[in-house]
Amino acid sequence: MKILVTGGAGFIGANLVNALIEHGHDVVIIDNLVTGKKNNLNPKAKFYNIDIRDKDIEKIFKEHNFDIVNHHAAQIDVRKSVENPVYDRDVNVIGLLNLLQNSIKYKIKKFINISSGGVIYGDDAELPIKETAKKNPLSPYGISKLSGENYMYIYNKLHNLKYTTLRYSNVYGKYQDPKGEAGVIAIFSNLMLDKKQPVMYGDGKQTRDYVYVKDVVNANLLAMEKGDYEAFNIGTGTETSVIELFNIMKKITDYQGEPKHEPARLGELLRNSLDITKAKKLLNWQPKYTLEEGLKETIAWVKSGFR
Ligand SMILES: NC(=O)c1ccc[n+]([C@@H]2O[C@H](COP(=O)([O-])OP(=O)(O)OC[C@H]3O[C@@H](n4cnc5c(N)ncnc54)[C@H](O)[C@@H]3O)[C@@H](O)[C@H]2O)c1
Repeated sequence: MKILVTGGAGFIGANLVNALIEHGHDVVIIDNLVTGKKNNLNPKAKFYNIDIRDKDIEKIFKEHNFDIVNHHAAQIDVRKSVENPVYDRDVNVIGLLNLLQNSIKYKIKKFINISSGGVIYGDDAELPIKETAKKNPLSPYGISKLSGENYMYIYNKLHNLKYTTLRYSNVYGKYQDPKGEAGVIAIFSNLMLDKKQPVMYGDGKQTRDYVYVKDVVNANLLAMEKGDYEAFNIGTGTETSVIELFNIMKKITDYQGEPKHEPARLGELLRNSLDITKAKKLLNWQPKYTLEEGLKETIAWVKSGFR
């Protein structure tokens, strides 16, 4: 199939592009490289360095006749969204609308939309969180991601566009920037391998649902054929505290020190994990990697010279 991957130079998008090409698909990437990297680009994919908000993306739709649009490009930083909510909305909502308008005009077969199970439900949902839980975003980023989901629903009702939304928990793995601001696993891996002390905010008992990027990619492959008109949590259903994570990573990296403790960050969720029963049932998806297996592969990749 002919597939457009937006954000294909970024962490998750680049992993997805590689898998799609391995499966024999014809892939086109749109990315403006704001956080994505040229080095992540698969040479077998056709790459356009362009912003998803640019009117000229129409030329790309016209030329390629896409079967599927898989939309990973986004402003993904919660703190940046607080500092600059207009930019966040611009990329995550106006950029999405630009893609959706072209998707209906050029009659694609399906749109895969990426959302976040870490930011749309808020902090009072029962764990593990089900898709039906109350939506209560606590940041402009959460609002823009939820808004994107609502637009998917409306584009289906108004224009008959077929879609699936995937709501990721905390994704980790190859290509996640260890020098970036987000992604505790990437940051810890890099520091521990360099024998530098990682910082732990608060008491370290805050939990997250860490899902390995290869499992996330697999959910995207299944969503090409299944799960139409639905939103799915993509996580593991398991909570892991920062202290537990630190201890597992300590063993794998052979780091000898202890973390440095700093005050908790304002607005940080205390606990998170996603119920994945619906994805198991309707997408026939479930994570195959344990946290330890995923961490071993990720740390081996960081060690192999990304730093
Ligand atoms: N990483 C996670 O744990 C996580 C969790 C939940 C949801 N998500 C979602 O997954 C998707 C991918 O995230 P990621 O972690 O790979 O982040 P990333 O920053 O590595 O990837 C985003 C990509 O989008 C590109 N991009 C950003 N703005 C653009 C624009 N205006 N025009 C064109 N390209 C643009 C960037 O250059 C980058 O390559 C995002 O939609 C994000 O919201 C990620």
